[in-house]
Amino acid sequence: MNRKIIVTGGCGYIGSHAVIQLIENQFEVVVLDNLSNSSEANLGRIKQITGKQPLFIKVDLSNSEATSKIFKRHNDALAVIHFAALKAVGESINIPLKYYHNNLNCLLNTLNSQTENGINKFIFSSSATVYGTPDELPITEKSITKQPSSPYGNTKKIGEEIIEDYCKTELNFSSISLRYFNPIGAHESGIIGELPKGIPNNLMPYITQTAAGILDKLKVFGGDYPTQDGTAIRDYVHVVDLAQAHIHALNRLLNQEQEASFETFNLGSNKGYSVLEMIQTFEAVSKVKLNYEITERRTGDITQLYASTKLAEEKLGWKAQRTIEEMILSSWKWEQNLLSKKNRK
Ligand code: NAD
Ligand code: UD1
Repeated sequence: MNRKIIVTGGCGYIGSHAVIQLIENQFEVVVLDNLSNSSEANLGRIKQITGKQPLFIKVDLSNSEATSKIFKRHNDALAVIHFAALKAVGESINIPLKYYHNNLNCLLNTLNSQTENGINKFIFSSSATVYGTPDELPITEKSITKQPSSPYGNTKKIGEEIIEDYCKTELNFSSISLRYFNPIGAHESGIIGELPKGIPNNLMPYITQTAAGILDKLKVFGGDYPTQDGTAIRDYVHVVDLAQAHIHALNRLLNQEQEASFETFNLGSNKGYSVLEMIQTFEAVSKVKLNYEITERRTGDITQLYASTKLAEEKLGWKAQRTIEEMILSSWKWEQNLLSKKNRK
């Protein structure tokens, strides 16, 4: 039976973990990626874990002709999971057109090429950033979406609007948009994980690289937030839990269980942790003392954010299983594994 799924951005952090889950669920995977923020080495890591290497095609999905050609060759695919995007928030503020060009053209070309070839199921990587600064916590899918604080975030909001409009007119087309909160962690084997290029922007890789001695000191952005310890609160979710949610969403689409042609789901863990709690938990599980100092707030950051994932539980049958200790320990295991290698790629 045909089980082919096209995964764009499948060499990246979340995409590669989703590819592992797809292979373990007997799907045949075709990975499309231009390697602009990832390495082909991840394909070997996927093989090490699953015993299978997915077919890989290097392509820039913002190029419509190249994208169209590939989809013609794989017109027997059942669905597309679309991870491909640029995601550096700060860079998107400095170079907005690069982000609008890349993220929106990748999306438009993928939607066009897949429907030209009769592939009419689509999963989109969205983000909690579509909620802007929320009026209520926990955030549900009914919470209003707002202007995100960056062009990157805006590509997610506009992306969802494009897909929703498309679902209204393209009658056989259906889509699920997954709004990730803060994905962290790595595969429990320590073989694959997040590998940011350059100095990381996000908290977890900053912590592990500081502990590993690659970076000197972690700056805690803001100690004067109105929270229990003065630091900001986020909803961290294990990347393997997140990857598994994609299998649930895919099965919902393939089994035609949707209640609307466009659906959105929050993917988080329903819990918020402060930056200091993250540091303390890291120190407890790794037994490594972290060099950090509390500094000024980072522009654009909000006080607290955490999800209600009731809808995903009810409709997708998915709930995050892994604890904050497991998230942090797996990130640390991956960092240590990288340290023992000559090449960080
Ligand atoms: P990532 O950068 O590791 O993966 C994205 C992949 O897309 C990379 O392999 C990159 O090379 C590829 N890509 C980018 N532009 C491309 C193009 N023009 N053509 C082909 N491939 C291209 O990022 P990630 O953390 O795995 O994120 C995956 C998705 O989830 C992205 O859409 C991201 O915006 C979204 N998301 C991520 C987070 C997070 O914290 N990591 C949070 C919310 C949403
Ligand atoms: C950031 C992005 C968000 C994006 C998400 C995932 C911003 C404003 N938001 O979310 O749009 O979807 O990443 O890519 O950039 N922190 C420190 N020191 C650090 C790094 C982070 O104290 O060196 C703090 C932050 O202030 C925040 C928490 O740690 O309170 C988490 O930060 P981060 O991992 O960057 O994620 P978000 O800011 O939630």
